[in-house]
Amino acid sequence: MTLKNAIDLTGRSVLLTGATGAIGAATARACASLGVRKLVLADAGPRDDLEALSEELRALGVEALGHQCDVSRRQDNADLVAAAGEVDAAVACAGICPLEEDWADDPDWDEVFHRVMDVNLLGPIHLARELIPQMAARGGGQIVMIGSIGGRMGGTSPIVQPHYIASKGGVHALIWWLAQRAAPQGVLVNGIAPGPIASAMTATTPYPKDRYPLGRIGEPEEIAWPAAFLCSPAASYFSGSILDVNGGLFVG
Ligand SMILES: NC(=O)c1ccc[n+]([C@@H]2O[C@H](COP(=O)([O-])OP(=O)(O)OC[C@H]3O[C@@H](n4cnc5c(N)ncnc54)[C@H](O)[C@@H]3O)[C@@H](O)[C@H]2O)c1
Repeated sequence: MTLKNAIDLTGRSVLLTGATGAIGAATARACASLGVRKLVLADAGPRDDLEALSEELRALGVEALGHQCDVSRRQDNADLVAAAGEVDAAVACAGICPLEEDWADDPDWDEVFHRVMDVNLLGPIHLARELIPQMAARGGGQIVMIGSIGGRMGGTSPIVQPHYIASKGGVHALIWWLAQRAAPQGVLVNGIAPGPIASAMTATTPYPKDRYPLGRIGEPEEIAWPAAFLCSPAASYFSGSILDVNGGLFVG
């Protein structure tokens, strides 16, 4: 064992979806601080947001490529991976959690269910389908999917709807399925199941923080560092792991 720090992304290329979201942007910054060579930043949000983040990262010496896409579309993922070039690691952060419709009596709810599944679950499938062969051909890679504490234990807020919870439980099962098939090709698939984190997604969600072990929800950086770690050589024996990063809210 050498004493060199293996939580180091020097020379690596990392692709992020949901890159301009709270966790995605924090992960991009964490990767930059760990010496990443190139960041491919994908998001369905405004092109200006992608460009602003890319500029910020370029000022830190990172080769940053912004790419607008909808992860729920198979072709968008194919175009994204083709534009990215060689990818050493990827973090699938893109996600939605609609709170407006009620599952019990809103007639539009079923349509929303399908959209949530398309973005949160089919999106990571599309991405993995593109990336695993490309990574395997280069001798390996690392893929990190962002699940949720909701997929572990049904959620921590009374207003979060079952489409989101089911999609994230599906992401966890997908990680296990993919890990078994990708590891023999040198590709490590892992995940993180965050507890509630301050972001646009949770801005209007009530949380009973006074009953939480740490008395607060998490910050995006508190997911970004574990995500960057899972992209690094220090995580070379992780495959099919889902890190529970939730401030002690769920200890399964
Ligand atoms: N915030 C939390 O409490 C929390 C908890 C557990 C898991 N997560 C998960 O973490 C991930 C990041 O969430 P966040 O908290 O940063 O939220 P966020 O809303 O800040 O970021 C989500 C990003 O995904 C992008 N996105 C949405 N649909 C897309 C699509 N179809 N194609 C491409 N990009 C799309 C959005 O534009 C946004 O930039 C999500 O998968 C979310 O489900 C969040």
